[in-house]
Amino acid sequence: MTQKFFTVAPMMDWTDRHCRAFHRVLSRRARLYTEMVTTGAVIHGPRERLLGFSGVEHPVAVQLGGSDPKDLAEAARICADFGYDEINLNVGCPSDRVQNGRFGACLMQEPVLVGECVAAMKATVSLPVTVKCRIGVDDQDTEEALDRLTDCVVAPGCDELTVHARKAWLKGLSPKENRDIPPLDYNRVYRLKAARPDLPVAINGGIKTFAEVHEHLKHVDGAMLGRVAYHEPEILLCVDPELYGEKAPVADGFEAVEAYEPYIAARLAEGERLHTMTRHMLGLFTGRPGARAYRRHLATEATKPGANLQTLRDAVALVSRVETAPSEARLSAAE
Ligand SMILES: Cc1cc2nc3c(=O)[nH]c(=O)nc-3n(C[C@H](O)[C@H](O)[C@H](O)COP(=O)(O)O)c2cc1C
Repeated sequence: MTQKFFTVAPMMDWTDRHCRAFHRVLSRRARLYTEMVTTGAVIHGPRERLLGFSGVEHPVAVQLGGSDPKDLAEAARICADFGYDEINLNVGCPSDRVQNGRFGACLMQEPVLVGECVAAMKATVSLPVTVKCRIGVDDQDTEEALDRLTDCVVAPGCDELTVHARKAWLKGLSPKENRDIPPLDYNRVYRLKAARPDLPVAINGGIKTFAEVHEHLKHVDGAMLGRVAYHEPEILLCVDPELYGEKAPVADGFEAVEAYEPYIAARLAEGERLHTMTRHMLGLFTGRPGARAYRRHLATEATKPGANLQTLRDAVALVSRVETAPSEARLSAAE
């Protein structure tokens, strides 16, 4: 049996390097993704600011947005030199900006081009090259659209496919609505995996609990969680014990904060503001008395000049160590 895997979704403005370093204290094994970076930004932009990351984040994949094979190959080479562990191509983002650039979800309509993009990257880097896509867009037949895309990316050697199990509707919905309104069709992704036993397939979209992760993993190889991983990061405590038979790196949110403190201290010493890190920690302690006071303290105090580790410790001190309403995630981790 192949090893089942777990990934935290690429999320613009959310999964920046500080967020990933924080998620890493909760799981050694979860694969983490950057926010999408366009090929133009990688090639012409401030690389260190866009691509720099800390060694603690491994394994970490960079997600590229683009549709020009030459540019993608060049961007992939740059990212490989930065030390990323995987190059992922975005074939799922529906924003207008992305559509105007002719990449993201609209590439579901150009599978041959996507195949050329994968081929160009595979020819340039020796890292795994993966694709994150939807099951289709607009009025596409999802059986045909997903099969076609899969054929086109598997031929040049795509190493893994993550499928957000809903269509993107390219006209009339905002990106946020496109994450909720088009109906989920998990069975379509299960069928894809059944038809391609050799292709690692991960499922994404609307997964809320670790019990659901286990259910999906009966049908596919991997599960990718986005919003729940961000808003209830303690769910990541389940990953190492439940999928890899290893102890979680920390026992709970309190230990997670302690484990993250040295990273925060190092960034503060470099002149980074506390809030840029603590903004990703607001979902910790959900279900514990005091969680709201913790969030409020961080939201108001961590943004102030001079905010430091004591500010974070003061916020954590507002949280009760007695759990009254354990979340499913923590219940599951404790089993
Ligand atoms: C704030 C936000 C930003 C996102 N940015 C990206 C992105 O840059 N690239 C991408 O492929 N998907 C992006 N997504 C989509 C997620 O990767 C994921 O496919 C989607 O949220 C569904 O998974 P979930 O229900 O577990 O959140 C984003 C989602 C959110 C909430």
